[in-house]
Amino acid sequence: MTAAAEPPRPMTFTAAPALSGSVTVPGDKSISHRSLMLSALAVGESRVEGLLEGEDVLATAAAMRAMGADIQRDADGIWHIHGVGVGGLLQPEGALDMGNSGTSTRLLMGLLASHDLTATFIGDASLSKRPMARVTDPLTQMGASFTTSPGGRLPLTMRGACPAVPLDYRLPVASAQVKSAILLAGLNTPGITRVVEPIPTRDHSERMLRGFGADLHVEVEADGTRIITLVGEAELQPQQIIVPGDPSSAAFPMVAALLVPGSQVTIANVGLNATRAGLIDLLREMGGSIEVINAREVGGEPVGDLLVTASTLQGVEPDPARAPSMIDEYPVAFIAAALAQGRSIFRGLDELRVKESDRIATMAAGLRAIGVTVEELEDGLIIEGSGGAPLQGGGPIATKLDHRIAMSFAVAGLVSRDGVTIDDMRPVATSFPTFTALLQNLGAMA
Ligand code: S3P
Repeated sequence: MTAAAEPPRPMTFTAAPALSGSVTVPGDKSISHRSLMLSALAVGESRVEGLLEGEDVLATAAAMRAMGADIQRDADGIWHIHGVGVGGLLQPEGALDMGNSGTSTRLLMGLLASHDLTATFIGDASLSKRPMARVTDPLTQMGASFTTSPGGRLPLTMRGACPAVPLDYRLPVASAQVKSAILLAGLNTPGITRVVEPIPTRDHSERMLRGFGADLHVEVEADGTRIITLVGEAELQPQQIIVPGDPSSAAFPMVAALLVPGSQVTIANVGLNATRAGLIDLLREMGGSIEVINAREVGGEPVGDLLVTASTLQGVEPDPARAPSMIDEYPVAFIAAALAQGRSIFRGLDELRVKESDRIATMAAGLRAIGVTVEELEDGLIIEGSGGAPLQGGGPIATKLDHRIAMSFAVAGLVSRDGVTIDDMRPVATSFPTFTALLQNLGAMA
């Protein structure tokens, strides 16, 4: 992707005056990926408004184009997608470059697994370290075959199966990407594909598949286990999609507004799907003032505006069962804990070790570098809060090609004595290209 061609871009974030104003964050990354993939499989023209125009989503768009979908952005920022029909994707000519994007890789592997084609997936240094067996194992059971790099990683080549064999699969790891890969493979598979999800994860795939007309049912058992069934050889109808603001991006101005004394900020049009809203619950438990205004439903997803007021936060010991609903928000939650009163203990977070970076190790090292007392556990962190006193600051923070590490330490810089230097801001373009401009709009970095 483009970022790798440029030199690293270091940046220093310094103590901010009270933040104020109203901002919007870019479209939801998970929903943006899915809207391109499903539109590319519908027959006719779908329109997508509010698509995240970040590098990860553009990698998905490029891949769908390479397999025959017609995808255009008009001057008003609306995306128009003419799909090829379920089963109609064409053999791509070159390797599919997934850049930094685990979601593009894993969901597309699922989508292609039930097509009669061969595809090679490549990615950047971060993506090439991430585990893929969680997807290649079930897709192999459906009939696809894989030649992978050592450890089951990228670069890898997949040979799809057509017809594929429907799968009945209990998720061994709480992962929306794995769930979605299997459901997407099931679209072009005769018979019923079934995924059993003992711990609920984000449900955008289920909502959107139903919205496009797929025959998909979700049954919830007494203990919360979700059983998802999808009838294969689906026909998808083109849709008009409005993508809500990404709660995972809203997390950064939200925590910044809570931490910078005197701040009051509105973040408009944020997706509030319960499977994504864990950070709001956690910050409220810590004493954060976050009000939802004008709650509404847009395109099958709950949305609202958030009014965030600077607050004194208390340390917490969150329930690990909450992890999937805020899995991408832990880095910035750790920054909130670093400013809270007392100790916070985070456990049960093994999945953080296999994100864009090992987010437990990367956050522990970065927090130490800016003067925070932190203990690294195998599955989490223990963080001693400053009680609201500014962090010492320092750096440069090694972000390891991880956008959310960069943005989390940028927020830390706003409440630091000496400022926090980030070694490289380029990866922020994967999910939140307007991040620095948004902080400036709120009055930071004057
Ligand atoms: C995502 C699922 C999560 C999340 C990722 C996006 C998705 O990954 O971390 O950023 O869109 O399905 P896992 O499925 O690995 O938990």
